[in-house]
Amino acid sequence: MSALNDNLPYKPVSFSETVITELMIPSYSNFGGKIHGGILLSLMDKVAYVCAAKHAGNYCVTASIDTVDFLQPVEVGDLVSLMASVNYVGKTSLVVGIRVISENIKTNQVHHTNTSYFTMVAKDEQDRPVQVPGLILEHRKHVRRFIEARKRKQIKQNYKHEVDEIEMPDNEELCAQMLVGERCIIA
Ligand SMILES: CC(C)(COP(=O)(O)OP(=O)(O)OC[C@H]1O[C@@H](n2cnc3c(N)ncnc32)[C@H](O)[C@@H]1OP(=O)(O)O)[C@@H](O)C(=O)NCCC(=O)NCCS
Repeated sequence: MSALNDNLPYKPVSFSETVITELMIPSYSNFGGKIHGGILLSLMDKVAYVCAAKHAGNYCVTASIDTVDFLQPVEVGDLVSLMASVNYVGKTSLVVGIRVISENIKTNQVHHTNTSYFTMVAKDEQDRPVQVPGLILEHRKHVRRFIEARKRKQIKQNYKHEVDEIEMPDNEELCAQMLVGERCIIA
């Protein structure tokens, strides 16, 4: 990527805010009769793409997904809505925050099924990362989300360093000691 070009016009969060609502049809269900997690992940990727590409003004790819915890099962016949907004921008990457809710059409009962953060990277015609516009934070909640996303990015970098630093003993006895209390056997 070339040097940072801050002459690119900044865009407000509201410019790319995106909502997708989809009916959960029977073919989306698993053997337990609930909606497959993969269906929800696919919808999340779709809404993240729309939101990111709109802000970037370019094609985007998914670089990483920050934790997806399914808090509530989703039922066949529910309406699932995915609300996405840009939470953070770096140079060529941006973080899209997604809140997913499901609604029972008959009772209008709404459940928060999950919240997740997708890091998307904008690409140019040659498939190289390309700079994204800066972000105009229009509300206090946008400022909070930006600061939180920056913190998550730092935590993720520290986490990676800590995992990389794990030293694997070359002695099998020491390995066995490290695994005391775990439900595994070294064969
Ligand atoms: C993600 C990808 C674009 C990174 O490309 P790269 O050449 O390593 O680019 P860089 O190292 O210059 O990183 C570009 C940006 O992506 C960010 N990035 C790269 N990997 C990342 C990751 N795993 N998590 C979060 N951000 C990441 C970098 O921090 C950087 O952000 P910045 O410009 O805002 O500072 C590249 O690996 C890719 O195209 N991956 C495949 C994506 C894809 O196909 N997704 C669909 C999944 S099936």
